[in-house]
Order: sequence, then structure tokens, then C-alpha cells
Amino acid sequence: MTKTSLAQNENRERMAEHWSSDLSRKQLGFWPTPLESLDRLSSELNGPRIWIKRDDCSGLATGGNKTRKLEFLLADAIAKNAEVIITYGAVQSNHARQTAAACAKFGIDCHLLLTERVRNSTTNYRANGNILLDELLGANLTIVPLDELGKSREETIELLNKEGKIFYEIPPGGSSPIGAMGYAHAFQEITDQANFCVTDIVHASASAATQAGLIFGTELLEHNAKILGANVFHENPSSLKSRISDILEKMRELFPSKNRPLDQDSILVNHAYFGEGYGMPNKETFDAIRLFASLEGILLDPVYSGKAAACLIDQINIGSFDESSDVVFLHTGGQASLSAYQDDFKTN
Ligand SMILES: Cc1ncc(COP(=O)(O)O)c(C=O)c1O
Repeated sequence: MTKTSLAQNENRERMAEHWSSDLSRKQLGFWPTPLESLDRLSSELNGPRIWIKRDDCSGLATGGNKTRKLEFLLADAIAKNAEVIITYGAVQSNHARQTAAACAKFGIDCHLLLTERVRNSTTNYRANGNILLDELLGANLTIVPLDELGKSREETIELLNKEGKIFYEIPPGGSSPIGAMGYAHAFQEITDQANFCVTDIVHASASAATQAGLIFGTELLEHNAKILGANVFHENPSSLKSRISDILEKMRELFPSKNRPLDQDSILVNHAYFGEGYGMPNKETFDAIRLFASLEGILLDPVYSGKAAACLIDQINIGSFDESSDVVFLHTGGQASLSAYQDDFKTN
């Protein structure tokens, strides 16, 4: 056995121990999520073989990428005796909806502070989709303009302190180094499932922990897969890159390994599918959603997975992937917001 594979095996075993420890993780999802080949889409695009990792089927109130993060975050919150969880997001936040579901499951109160950061004043956007589900899941909702978030957070914390409640804050998107460990494990899960060599993974990137976790997974397992994040959130993609880099740095402290840290060049972000802004799908987003639905029976969303799919399709069309490669599209969920965008589907 070479020195390299010894280090890889050691990390594999350590990750398996971390994954199965009740102290670090509370099970919320169904694992492993399926890894399927997209035969009709692959032949339509006539490029590399396309696979899909179905994290939209992860469970927890319609699934999505937050299930993996929340397993670690909830374990931390419960270890700290939290009675209330506070978290943040946009009005149609999938993270907020999944956090509300996780709190319901463990009998913890959930406060969602949601911001009006997306220019969309339709009734569907404000009352349907994730908002409808947040309410069903019993969360306390506060919706404020973006510039009032700080004040609203202070008021919520002051009230909880007055009531003597132990609270735990989860950052937007569940994007802390603890949450990101969920995606280091996801990378291991993908490589365990794949009977092929994973050359590329493409996914939507916003608060950065999904991408940081996947990259950390490649680092721990000394794997050459390239992780391409389609930026859907940051006006300036370099802010996404530095967020990923910060989380990676902290993950290395949380889960030290002897492996050499990957350099900045391994953080691959594509900004070309961002469109007009966060939460604002464009024609390419809707075309991608329709193509996945009509060829594969798979539902994407207009904010995240639809933009990531537009990235995948275009990158294949312009020949960015070797034809002999095996590209995995990580479906991070988000379909719960489809009904919130009903009006946009009519006009696109
Ligand atoms: C459906 C969906 N996909 C992708 C992402 C992006 O993941 P991350 O915030 O870890 O970059 C999010 C985050 O909110 C999401 O809700």
C-alpha cells in the first residue's frame, strides 16, 4: 500500500466514525440518496455521461441540501441544550423551511428571520412555496426589509434572553464549518456509490458550505474530482470564493488531517448563470428546468438547481468537459419554491 492510499484510508475511517457518532450527528435524512444516470439528457446534449446525485430526495420536508448540514448543526444545538433555534434566509429560503422541519422533529422552537432581498411582490412569492410550509411546520416567522435584519435579530435575542431561553443561532444556509461537514461526507458517499471515476461535480453555490464541504471531501480522500459551483447569490463571485476559502480553513481546524491543503485554484466558481440577481431566474434557468422535467422527469427550482442546470448544459454545449468524463450534477433541492414562482413560469 502506498503512503498516499494509507492517508486516504485513514481519513475514510475517521470520516465513517464521525458520521456514525451520535454526538456529532442527529439523523434527519435518508442515506445514501440515489445516484442515477441521466441517459436521455446525456444523449440529447451529446457530451460526457451525466449523473445526478439526488439530494432533493434527502427527506426532511421535501428534501434538499440542508438536511445534511442540519444533521450536524442540530446535534451541536442539542448538545448545548438549545430550546430555541434562530436562523435566517430570504422569504423563499429552503434552508429556513428545512430548519423548521428539523426543529419540529426534535421539539425545539424555531424562529425564522426572513428578509425581503428578492424583488418579487407577487402573492405567490409572499405566501406560497416555502412560506406555506414554514407555517405548516410551526415556525415563528418574521419578515423584514434587508436593512432591518440587524434590529430584528437584536429584538428576538433580547426577548429570548428575557424569557431565560437557551437559544442557538444557525447562520444563513446552515453555512458553518460544522454544517459543511455534511458535504464532506456527501463526497465520500458519492465516491462509494459510483462505479465510475467521478471527474466533475456541478452544483448551485450560495452560502458556500456545500461547495466547501465537497472540496474538503476531495482533500481528505485525495481525489481529483473538480467541484464547480454555479454562483447564484453573490453579485461579485470573488466574495463566494473567499467565503468557501474561509469555511475550508475552519474545517481543517475542526477535522485535522495530514493531507496537504488544496490551493485556491481548486475553488471553481462560474458566474455566467447568475442572471439579474439572487432569486431572479432568467430564460436559461427556465429552459433548463423544462429540459430536466421533460427528458428525465426531474423537478428543479428557479433559484438554485435551475441555474446550476443551466450552467451544466451550457458548459457541455461549449465543450468544457471531456467527452469521456463522468459529470455528476448534484441536485440540491429547492422544488418547494416552484409554486412561489408560478407567475414567472407564465411569462417565460
Ligand atoms: C436548493 C438549494 N440549492 C443550493 C443551495 C446553495 O447551497 P450553499 O448555501 O451551501 O452554497 C441552497 C442554499 O440555500 C439551496 O437552498
